[in-house]
Amino acid sequence: MAPATRDLFSSRLGVLAATLGSAVGLGNIWKFPSLVGQNGGASFLVVYLLASLCIGLPLMISDLSLGRAGRSNVISIFQKLAPRTGWWLIGLSAIISCLLILGFYSDVAGWVFAYILKSATGTVSSTDPAAAQASFSSLLNDGPVSLFWQWLVLLLTGAIIMRGASAGIEKVTRVLMPVLFLLLVGVCIRSLTLPGASEGLRFLFMPQWERVDASVIMMAMGLAFFKMSLGMGCMLTYGSYFKEDVNIPLMATRVMICDLLVSLLAGIAIFPAVFSFGFQPAEGPALLFLTIPAVFSSMPGGTFFATLFFILSAIAATGAILSLLEVPVAWLSERFSLPRSKAVPILLAGLVLLGLPATLSTGPALQDVKLFGLTFFDLYDALSSTILMPLSGIVTSLFVGYFWEKEQMLAALGGGMPARLVRTLCRTVTPVLITLVLLHGLNII
Ligand code: PHE
Repeated sequence: MAPATRDLFSSRLGVLAATLGSAVGLGNIWKFPSLVGQNGGASFLVVYLLASLCIGLPLMISDLSLGRAGRSNVISIFQKLAPRTGWWLIGLSAIISCLLILGFYSDVAGWVFAYILKSATGTVSSTDPAAAQASFSSLLNDGPVSLFWQWLVLLLTGAIIMRGASAGIEKVTRVLMPVLFLLLVGVCIRSLTLPGASEGLRFLFMPQWERVDASVIMMAMGLAFFKMSLGMGCMLTYGSYFKEDVNIPLMATRVMICDLLVSLLAGIAIFPAVFSFGFQPAEGPALLFLTIPAVFSSMPGGTFFATLFFILSAIAATGAILSLLEVPVAWLSERFSLPRSKAVPILLAGLVLLGLPATLSTGPALQDVKLFGLTFFDLYDALSSTILMPLSGIVTSLFVGYFWEKEQMLAALGGGMPARLVRTLCRTVTPVLITLVLLHGLNII
C-alpha cells in the first residue's frame, strides 16, 4: 500500500533538477555529441528535434501524468488506473529494465569515478593514445578494483535514495545540476580558446543533409527515447512525486530543452579540443576513457580540466542512477510495506549480485562467457535498451491513446491543446515510430 502522505518534490525548481538529473546522463557526454558530429551536424539536430517532438515529449508527458494520476509505484499505478487488467506488466517490464541497466551502468559510472582520481593524480596524463589504452585496460582487467568502484557508486547513490524523494533526490540534484552546468561552461571556455577550435565546431554543427538516411533517422528516434529516460518507469515514478500544480507539458518541454543544451555544451567542451590537438573524434567508452585523457593532457592546465571533466561526468551518471534506483525502491517499499532503510540495502545486495557478471565480463574473468553471442555486459544492455524499453514505450502510448478514459486522461495532462495533441500522437504517430525503432534494433528492418 502507498503511504497515506506521499513524499512529494517540494518546489518547481526541485522538480526540474530531479527530472533533468535523470535525463542528463552519460548519453549526453559520450553518445549525443559524437552522433551529432558523425551524422550530419545541424541536420541531425533538426531530425533529433523532430524525433523528440513526436516520440520523446509525448511519452515523457504521458509517463509523468500517469505517475501523478496513479500516485504510486510503477506496478500499482496501472493497477489503480486499470484494475483487473494486464497493463501492470508495463511496470514489471520497467523494474526489470532498471535492474538490468543498473547492472552495467553502475559499472561504467564506477570507471568514471575511478578516472576522477586517476586524472587528479596525473596517472592518466599522457598524450599517447596507447598509454591511455593501457591505463584503461588495466582498470578493466582488474576485477576487484572495478567491483570496488561499482560498489562505491551503488553505496553513494543508495545513501541518497535512502533519504527519499524530497530530502534525497531533490535536495541532491538541486545542488548537483547547477554545479554540472558551471563545470561544463568552464571546460567549454577552455576548449573554445584553444588554437584551431573552430574545426571542432564545424564538425559538430555544419549541416550535412546527405548524411541523413533512414538509419540515421532511426538512430535519432532511439536516442530521443533513451535521452529522456523513457520506457523504464523513471518518469512514471518521478511523476508520482509531482505536486498537482506542476504544469507537466511545460515542465517536460523545459527538461527536453535543458537536456539538449547540456548535450550541446558537452560537444562544445569536447570537440574543439579534440580537433585542436589532432585527435580523431570517437564515441562511447573510447571517447571518454581514451581520447579525453589524451586530449586534456595535451593542453595547459590539462590535469585540472580533465579532473573537472570527470567530475561533471560522474555528476551526470549519478542523477541518472538515482532515477533508476528509485523505480525498484519505490516498488519494494510500497509493495512489502518496508521502510527505505530496509528496501535500499535489499536492492543494493541484489544489484551487487546482478552487477557482478556484467563487471567481470569486461575483464579476463568472464569476457569469454557469452549468451546469445553477447557478454553479460552487452546482454544486459541489449535486453533493456533494444527490447524492453521500446516495447514498454509502445504499450504505454497505446494505454494513453486508447485505454485511458478520454476525459480522465485529458484532465491528468492538464487539459487544453497540449493534452489533446499528446492523445492524438499516442494514438497514431508515436507507437508506429517506436515500433520502427524496435524492429530496427532487432535487425528486422
Ligand atoms: N537519460 C540517461 C542518459 O542520457 C540514460 C537513462 C536512461 C537514465 C533511462 C535513466 C533511464 O544517459
